Amino acid sequence: MKILIVEDEKIKRITLTDALLKEGYDVLAIDNPVEALNIFKEREFDVVITDIRLPHMDGLAFLKEIKALKPDTTAIVMTAYATVDTAIKAMKLGAYDYITKPFSSEELLLILERLKDFRRLVEENIKLKQEITERYSFGNIVGKSKKMKGVYELIETVAPRDATVLIIGESGTGKELIANAIHYNSPRKDKPFVKFSCAALAESLLESELFGHEKGAFTGAVKERRGRFELANNGSIFLDDIDDIPLSMQTKLLRVLQEKEIEKVGGTKTIKVDIRIICATKVDLLKLAKQGKFREDLYYRLNIVPINLPPLRERKEDIPLIVEYLLNKYSSKMGKKTFCHEAMKLLINYDWPGNVRELENVVERVVTLTKSNDIRVEDLPDFLMASPEKLCDRHLIDVMEEAASFEDMIKDMEIRLLTLAIKKASGNKSEAARILKMKRETFRDKVEKHGIVLEPPQATNGKP
Ligand SMILES: Nc1ncnc2c1ncn2[C@@H]1O[C@H](COP(=O)(O)OP(=O)(O)OP(=O)(O)O)[C@@H](O)[C@H]1O
Ligand SMILES: [Mg+2]
Repeated sequence: MKILIVEDEKIKRITLTDALLKEGYDVLAIDNPVEALNIFKEREFDVVITDIRLPHMDGLAFLKEIKALKPDTTAIVMTAYATVDTAIKAMKLGAYDYITKPFSSEELLLILERLKDFRRLVEENIKLKQEITERYSFGNIVGKSKKMKGVYELIETVAPRDATVLIIGESGTGKELIANAIHYNSPRKDKPFVKFSCAALAESLLESELFGHEKGAFTGAVKERRGRFELANNGSIFLDDIDDIPLSMQTKLLRVLQEKEIEKVGGTKTIKVDIRIICATKVDLLKLAKQGKFREDLYYRLNIVPINLPPLRERKEDIPLIVEYLLNKYSSKMGKKTFCHEAMKLLINYDWPGNVRELENVVERVVTLTKSNDIRVEDLPDFLMASPEKLCDRHLIDVMEEAASFEDMIKDMEIRLLTLAIKKASGNKSEAARILKMKRETFRDKVEKHGIVLEPPQATNGKP
């Protein structure tokens, strides 16, 4: 660590310098701040230790100067006991610490040791944060599954170019989030980003919305109006639910893509536009094209770079990460809430037909309604509880993974069936055999073979 000391008292300056040199620090000691400042401008120092009362220039003014020149420099001020007020002023100016005079060299060395630890921590923390963001997310898109990493790579490749992008994904998979990431990572990021859903708009309305209209183009068109394409000029447009646009409009859209020009409703002149187009669809456009509901040529024009967003159930490893992100987002200042292990397991097991949006709604609701900071299974909505069939499947999967052979699996099932029947029959052997639809002798043999211990039948009337 390179240290600059500014101290006018000769003895203090020499003892400090010696002590620091002995500990292996690289030290330069100067007796006046004006000269120190000149040297500071020329050379790099990690730490500046300065006295407050100095000739020619006040220590606080000196501190202000060095912080203005190189804000990252760590400054420690030395001050007389009587002027703690000044020390506080120094801290406000961005000093890292202060030390009150008189002090021993050991005290200063201790501060420097702490500083080293602190710097190491800060550096590690920065590195860690970088790693996390690089590996697990893209902006506010969270997920580290292989599929999502593939999506991040695609965004990175495609964002800087003008290529048309088609985002395909079920409801709530994050299509709009991806569209944002593309626009805001593109050279057009400071230009307009217009979002428009093509769903459920009457054809005439849709046309005037997208292309604008001239005054008097139709009844009610009292003023000339600019459409979304014109508003998005030089920027990007996000056309959501592109599968919903009627065939006639598809032809007009094709023209925008091919000729890069539009015409207002009721207008005669063509307007040149420079727009990057990002579309999204929940349905397979090629299938629609085959059914004659979507222009095939338009499909190929839009599908230059397809980005397939996988449903959440196909990337379950992302669920804990997204939940963590949502917990941070929705936890209040009262403290962060967490899901207990079992509750998290239910979140992971569920199929999430509404994908991330549905998961977000559930987390927000549960975080709001649960008073304790530990969220337990009981706090979750009922529909997350696995159905009996699912539980049974899960159980079978566990058995398959643990058993050494098929015979072992069968044996395991047999033991479980026998135990369950015995429990159901409250220990009554004949009844258990009947439940299992087997002869009493067979039942007895099997119980013996597997070494199942039979509890004496329990009284059902509550009396011994
Ligand atoms: N990978 C993700 N990480 C974090 N949040 C996400 C992620 N994916 C989606 N979300 C969140 O889920 C919600 C739904 O996302 P978005 O609106 O982008 O989905 P969509 O695919 O456009 O849905 P729809 O088809 O219903 O319009 C948003 O609140 C979004 O922030
Ligand atoms: Mg959407």
